[in-house]
Amino acid sequence: MPHPAAPFPMTRPRRLRQSDWMRRLVRETRLSVDDLIWPLFVVDGEGVRQPIESMPGVERVSVDLVAEKANEAAGLGIPCIALFPYTDPAVKTPGAEEAWNPDNLVNRATREIKKQVLDIGVMLDVALDPYNSDGHDGFLRDGVVLNDESLMGLEKQALAHAEAGADILGPSDMMDGRVAIIRQALEANDFPDVSILSYAAKYASAFYGPFRDAVGASGALKGDKTTYQMDPANSDEALREVAIDLSEGADMVMVKPGMPYLDICTRVKREFGVPTYAYQVSGEYAMIKAAAANGWLDGEKAMLESLAAFKRAGCDGILTYFAKDVAEWLAEES
Ligand code: PBG
Repeated sequence: MPHPAAPFPMTRPRRLRQSDWMRRLVRETRLSVDDLIWPLFVVDGEGVRQPIESMPGVERVSVDLVAEKANEAAGLGIPCIALFPYTDPAVKTPGAEEAWNPDNLVNRATREIKKQVLDIGVMLDVALDPYNSDGHDGFLRDGVVLNDESLMGLEKQALAHAEAGADILGPSDMMDGRVAIIRQALEANDFPDVSILSYAAKYASAFYGPFRDAVGASGALKGDKTTYQMDPANSDEALREVAIDLSEGADMVMVKPGMPYLDICTRVKREFGVPTYAYQVSGEYAMIKAAAANGWLDGEKAMLESLAAFKRAGCDGILTYFAKDVAEWLAEES
């Protein structure tokens, strides 16, 4: 029975939700394969596949198989992959020298992929934690993660990655001044076209847990990363971090983690209008996968909804372990 004071609603938002064609017509944002960066884990050997227990559906693979995955990704139209190494603990040192070894895992993998001349970009992280025996992103002395000394290591690592053919460098270490050092080194060494996608607003987050397993850093990590990664309670500070990285020569910026930090994505995109990416990190992936495995939610729908949320928040793209799954889904849809 209509209420006597308001016999009918003057506006009916439901009109625009009646059918699939109408919903498609009024949809404000759209996820495309062009929005995706696919992170991959590289391990030593040949023909090696190692499932990662805390990230169901994700595996570490040897260089030969990474090249295969890059091929598949290119075939699906994924524009970029990001490589992370599982470094043999025997190779890790306090000085993290393996980070600038021209033949380290990610450098070899990059050269192998570049040999195939695929239409796909390769992004490499610049940070010392996969190579450090103490699991930190910089050098540790007397319990302190050193800033300026660490920059020297990051600079050497960045140049080794550029030399190997990386298209995009992703400084993920959160040392002060890293983007400037890397940009200057690239310019001075004839790599003016290598882009920097800086992990500008990177928080000290519990959601990186499974990743540290994947790269073998969790057992190694002494203490936590709260003296260099950001406090989850802050958001003005994220804008200052982004401003600094852009002034130092970053081309694109990232917010990390993703879903719990969508407000940061929105503020960064509005304030700076630069290409802005979110990293849907390992813990976010693991949560969706674990709940789906228990039958507590629909894994595919949760994946699509989580990725749509990044677009709605203003992100230009997403680093996500779902990249291949969603690229296949999108290909089927069209
Ligand atoms: C390393 C790095 C981390 C991630 C990407 N690069 C972990 C960390 O900072 O401890 C996390 C990615 C993920 O959780 O998926 N500097």
